[in-house]
Amino acid sequence: MLNFTVTENYDAMSALAAWRVAKALERKPELVMTLPTGGTPIGMLQEMSRMAQQKKVDFSQAYSFNIDEYIPLKKEDPQSYYWFLDHYFYQHANLPVENRFVPDVLADDLLTECARYEQAIVDHGDFDLTVLGIGHDGHIGFNEPHATHSPVCHIIDLNEETIEANARFFTHREEVPRQAITLGMGTILKSKEIVLIANGLSKAQVMKQLFDCKRVDPLFPASFLLLHPDVTIICDQEAASLIPSLR
Ligand code: PGA
Repeated sequence: MLNFTVTENYDAMSALAAWRVAKALERKPELVMTLPTGGTPIGMLQEMSRMAQQKKVDFSQAYSFNIDEYIPLKKEDPQSYYWFLDHYFYQHANLPVENRFVPDVLADDLLTECARYEQAIVDHGDFDLTVLGIGHDGHIGFNEPHATHSPVCHIIDLNEETIEANARFFTHREEVPRQAITLGMGTILKSKEIVLIANGLSKAQVMKQLFDCKRVDPLFPASFLLLHPDVTIICDQEAASLIPSLR
């Protein structure tokens, strides 16, 4: 049973998600977390940064793992997801550099790199908190709809819908990478707590699909969240607008 919370608007969604991070950090200062990238989490990351600067939260003992990264973008590339987290969060918070993890998408052997990244998460005791966005096709991280899924960190071919959706962050559509390294659903589901955020009318259809789904469907990856006992979905009124019982 997925637990939905509807907020009045994007700012309220962002503030509530940031508050959930703060609460988790209060419970465990050595929090091991994975954070989303994309348009949705910008407000949340800014709020987390504000709280860190005002010393309302302390990330000095926390660990952060990128949920995914484009192949083959360098960390310094403004289109990389490491750069994104650095720009919106790390630069403004006191999370130590050595506690920020991202798959090395330039490694000679990417399969070995996937295994190394997975092991690093296991070595840190798995995630206490996972914060997710959601794609229009129901992807989580970059776990695209497929008949089969790798449960652990793996290389994924991005589908056309995702490339199209992410093209807005690039000057030309052709610049959008075709592959990424992503955490697998098994690793995400091992997280003690999961928060998923969504906003805007463009997410209304996928939110309705998630609300209505009753069983796991690999062609709708977000449905794997049904297997987890502690998932909170925080969405704004626009994203909830096709779910009559939440309006
Ligand atoms: P978005 O991406 O926040 O840019 O909509 C979400 C996702 O693809 O997970």
